[in-house]
Amino acid sequence: IKRLGVLTSGGDAPGMNAAIRAVVLMANAHNIDVVGFRHGFNGLFEDDCQTLLPQHVQHIIQHGGTLLKSARCKALQLPGGPAQAADALHRHQLDALVIIGGDGSFRGALAIAEHYRGQIIGVPGTIDNDVDGTDYTIGFATAIDTALDAIDKIRDTADAFERIFLVELMGRHSGYIALSAGIAAGAEQIICPEFVQLTADNLKTVLSPIRHAQLLRGKSSYIMVVAENSYPGGTTALAQALSDELGVECRACILGHIQRGGSPVGADRILATKLGAFAVEQLVAGAHLMMAGELNQQAVLYPLDKTGDRAKQIDPYLVRWQQLIASD
Ligand code: F6P
Repeated sequence: IKRLGVLTSGGDAPGMNAAIRAVVLMANAHNIDVVGFRHGFNGLFEDDCQTLLPQHVQHIIQHGGTLLKSARCKALQLPGGPAQAADALHRHQLDALVIIGGDGSFRGALAIAEHYRGQIIGVPGTIDNDVDGTDYTIGFATAIDTALDAIDKIRDTADAFERIFLVELMGRHSGYIALSAGIAAGAEQIICPEFVQLTADNLKTVLSPIRHAQLLRGKSSYIMVVAENSYPGGTTALAQALSDELGVECRACILGHIQRGGSPVGADRILATKLGAFAVEQLVAGAHLMMAGELNQQAVLYPLDKTGDRAKQIDPYLVRWQQLIASD
């Protein structure tokens, strides 16, 4: 390999910069030139790119966001899009491409691979932790700490006002963030799509633990962590429905994109460094259509077309724990 491309795609995640840095430094150690494409796959369509030298990635390990910018790419979805993207890679004489993103970005990469003569490797970067083949994705650990900081603060005001709060966390269709942050915050109840399919007709399942807590335990505040997309109409609608049923005001707090920002925590910087470096080493060794992941602390290669199989389960032990706590 003489030249490789790198891009960050999809929802940005804290630690993406650390991954870019590791790719550039490891490539440099192998005398490989690096071209960074900006705004995800859009950079391929718009020839929006820059040479990345070690000096360009100095002192970025501690920064959230991504030096290369990120985006979702409409052009890649169009007929002929993947072939056009592959042409751009050929034009830039790139022997390989590193994609830092989630499984949606990896699907895009697989489509390009059908037309591309070089090697492709993925590095899992998303706060959602919804990628198979790695215990954790880059950005997840930071997002948990950000969510925790917010929930702890909500607890203070909830306690003072003796209120019920619903805190909506991100995750798209995964409850990883909600379950983990909810457990760590000591939330009274956690709603994740994996174990509750909530509708207006089965609100009873969430109402009785709240009533129970109010009556028997005299709780001064009640926090329900809700994974996004858990209720038709959203968490604000859920708060309204619960208010109507309980006759007590329930407040919704949608944490939103705050969860994607901030300086990456140590665990994310280390994971990003390890996987970015490993991805380049494995490209040199011939890897293609693989993702660089970490399982049981070992860097591993995992087939890129299996990363979205959704075999990864949220921790069943923690699910049982939270169900026990909610019904206590
Ligand atoms: O995949 C990361 C993520 O933040 C999800 O948790 C969320 O559902 C989605 O991206 C939001 O996307 P956007 O920033 O385009 O609204």
